[in-house]
Amino acid sequence: MLNFLQSRAMEHLPMSFLVAFLLLCLSLNLPGFCVAGGNDSFVFAGFAAGAENLTLDGTAAVTREGLLGLTNNEPGVKGHAFYRIPLQFKDSPNGTAQSFSLAFVFAILSASSDLSTDGMAFVIAPGKDFSNASPAQYLGLLDSHSTGPSGNPFFAVELDTIKNDEFQDIDDNHVGIDIDALSSVESSSAAFHDDKDGTLKNLSLISTDGELIQVWVDYDGEAKQINVTLAPMGVAKPSKPLLSNTTDLSAVITDHAYAGFSAATGPIKSRHCVLAWSFAMNGPAPPIDFKKMPKLPHSGHNHKTLMKVLEIALPAAAFVALLACIAVFVIVQRKLAYDELREDWEVEFGPHRFSYKELFMATEGFKSKHLLGAGGFGKVYKGVLPKSKLEVAVKRVSHDSSQGIKEFVSEVVSIGHLRHRNLVQLLGYCRRKGELLLVYDYMPSGSLDKYLYGEENKPLLEWPQRLQIIKDVASGLYYLHEKWEQVVIHRDIKASNVLLDGAMVAHLGDFGLARLYDHGTDLQTTHVVGTMGYIAPELSRTGKASPLTDVFAFGTFLLEVTCGRRPVSNSVQHGRAMLVDRVLEYWHRGALEETVDSRLQGNYNVDEARMVLTLGLMCSHPFPGERPTMRQVMQYLDGDAPLPELAPANMSLLSLMRNQLSFDQSVLQYPWSATSMGTMTPGISVGR
Ligand SMILES: Nc1ncnc2c1ncn2[C@@H]1O[C@H](COP(=O)(O)OP(=O)(O)O)[C@@H](O)[C@H]1O
Ligand SMILES: *[C@@H]1O[C@H](CO)[C@@H](O)[C@H](O)[C@H]1NC(C)=O
Ligand SMILES: *[C@@H]1O[C@H](CO)[C@@H](O)[C@H](O)[C@H]1NC(C)=O
Ligand SMILES: *[C@@H]1O[C@H](CO)[C@@H](O)[C@H](O)[C@H]1NC(C)=O
Ligand SMILES: *[C@@H]1O[C@H](CO)[C@@H](O)[C@H](O)[C@H]1NC(C)=O
Ligand SMILES: *[C@@H]1O[C@H](CO)[C@@H](O)[C@H](O)[C@H]1NC(C)=O
Ligand SMILES: *[C@@H]1O[C@H](CO)[C@@H](O)[C@H](O)[C@H]1NC(C)=O
Ligand SMILES: [Mg+2]
Repeated sequence: MLNFLQSRAMEHLPMSFLVAFLLLCLSLNLPGFCVAGGNDSFVFAGFAAGAENLTLDGTAAVTREGLLGLTNNEPGVKGHAFYRIPLQFKDSPNGTAQSFSLAFVFAILSASSDLSTDGMAFVIAPGKDFSNASPAQYLGLLDSHSTGPSGNPFFAVELDTIKNDEFQDIDDNHVGIDIDALSSVESSSAAFHDDKDGTLKNLSLISTDGELIQVWVDYDGEAKQINVTLAPMGVAKPSKPLLSNTTDLSAVITDHAYAGFSAATGPIKSRHCVLAWSFAMNGPAPPIDFKKMPKLPHSGHNHKTLMKVLEIALPAAAFVALLACIAVFVIVQRKLAYDELREDWEVEFGPHRFSYKELFMATEGFKSKHLLGAGGFGKVYKGVLPKSKLEVAVKRVSHDSSQGIKEFVSEVVSIGHLRHRNLVQLLGYCRRKGELLLVYDYMPSGSLDKYLYGEENKPLLEWPQRLQIIKDVASGLYYLHEKWEQVVIHRDIKASNVLLDGAMVAHLGDFGLARLYDHGTDLQTTHVVGTMGYIAPELSRTGKASPLTDVFAFGTFLLEVTCGRRPVSNSVQHGRAMLVDRVLEYWHRGALEETVDSRLQGNYNVDEARMVLTLGLMCSHPFPGERPTMRQVMQYLDGDAPLPELAPANMSLLSLMRNQLSFDQSVLQYPWSATSMGTMTPGISVGR
């Protein structure tokens, strides 16, 4: 019966139609240029099956479970994944672009919960070769050096987690439609229209707890309308798109073009993942079977959930097993616990080398009760050296690569030769696989930030104490800049790096980040490391640290200590506010002393406070050339030279400039909790 019907159908098919059909097939499958035909569609629910249909480059890779990782949690990288063969976007050469629809599921994982660099994009372009494109804010799509149109005109939907004013970005969590440029023709903060109550609900592009987001892109070739819609996983496609723009894509999309994804990281380690993708020309994107999607890897953020699961699920039996293991463990630990790395080149640093065993004993095995604090680079423990009974602070810094570590250690050791009453003495180091331990003098009174913000029940500092601390820090920094055989740039001046000894004398700490360079040679370019609010505009722009970028941070520090406020404050009503803007505003009004810490209840020397605040403003001038050197700062503080008057014209310019330059602070949006961030791999220069 079936055979009969088929043969009847064949008989009735006109011969001419068959020939035309065959010719069409041939013309579409030119050798070496295989094009997916007219109304094709595909769907990937996870990429384990069909990974061969993707062309990957850069850091892009598909895991065994089928997760497409565009970037791999390294700073300053880019990755692309394109559907292997080009798709036919126009039904005739030089015709109009046809309708298409697609959906994909993504997650952006970051080491920090509210901060990630730089973003990812869905892309359509005539070629797959983006080897000249730059990472970071260029999203792996544009070459940072070229100014004209790109050689590979692209249409993209960007998911951007950094605010770059150069591309008129609206915020650090937005979606944009890009037409051969990173300045979006239309963009919006990541959000979705909830069909249930019709409200617009915010979304965070950065996945903090393993949340996934689905994106739909629909183009209507006749109405020339592009819609972009977002929703958290599990929510059906909202009927109202987030972005809708009328733009004819015929000009930017070529007859045959590749579709795929691009992502790039900047200084903050992030991982951009795609879990599923479906696409159709001239029809709705095929549905995705979400059950087949791979799981996200457990990131640091999942620890909480993980711990909960462990707590509940770990049966008591495991405890018994644990006991059995202890015997084995004790033996192995004896051998492994004190394992460390030691190489020939370290011999010359002998005296500065601590054994791991020594530090392990000193801190009683890095017990949490000895934890002094944790920062962007690692944890700090209090310890007592077994032989000398000397109290020390041991900082554990993790580093992933051995590359550059030699250079780093020799720096550390030469820093160890620095000696000044206002510096925290570095006593030595120890190196293990994947980590570096730095040993410092212990400062019994802790860090200054705790006093300024009344943490850990620290008492309020009176004005004379504050002024003395400021003078101490200035003298430590002056020593680093001008008194030693080499210029040492501190790079991370801030209240938490000012430590107080038993007599409340301030010591500038944390030379882990400092880099040395000889007098006279060029400043070397490295990645930007620092803390928001303390980073000079030119530093975030060029990545070049100099003594004057330290002076900038010192200026911020002066304001912080005098006003008792954080350099960048986040408040619900006022958003992100810069302390320096506030002080500047009061200076214009001639009411500078009103910014002095109200907790002092007026018990301070007005002339001194005005002098310090004015000096703070001078030091945080956006033009490096306008800032004083530390030598001059010392003279002003000691009263050996009169502080020059701030010229009102100059200062108005300063306000203006600050508004202009404020984006530079957001290029690296460090958490305002004042944590230093950066990577430990010396010499990496992030593409910016
Ligand atoms: N030498 C030290 N003596 C005493 N406490 C220290 C010392 N070094 C660091 N700390 C404490 O450890 C905390 C963490 O330090 P760190 O990792 O440098 O982070 P951050 O400087 O970003 O706060 C500091 O805030 C400080 O309170
Ligand atoms: C694709 O589909 C559209 C409408 O759905 C139709 O008009 C067109 O002829 C189809 N093209 C091919 C090559 O099948
Ligand atoms: C990958 O390509 C093969 C052969 O070209 C095809 O059979 C398969 O369906 C494709 N898979 C996807 C997910 O597109
Ligand atoms: C398509 O346009 C390009 C430039 O606009 C032109 O060089 C080319 O000949 C056109 N091709 C067809 C088939 O019309
Ligand atoms: C949503 O985000 C926008 C832009 O970032 C912000 O102005 C708004 O207050 C946010 N709304 C909520 C409810 O968080
Ligand atoms: C875009 O969204 C609007 C509703 O806001 C809808 O009318 C239109 O059909 C949509 N276009 C496409 C291509 O999905
Ligand atoms: C759409 O894009 C164009 C630029 O191509 C822009 O001028 C316009 O304002 C955008 N917005 C809307 C709602 O169409
Ligand atoms: Mg520190």
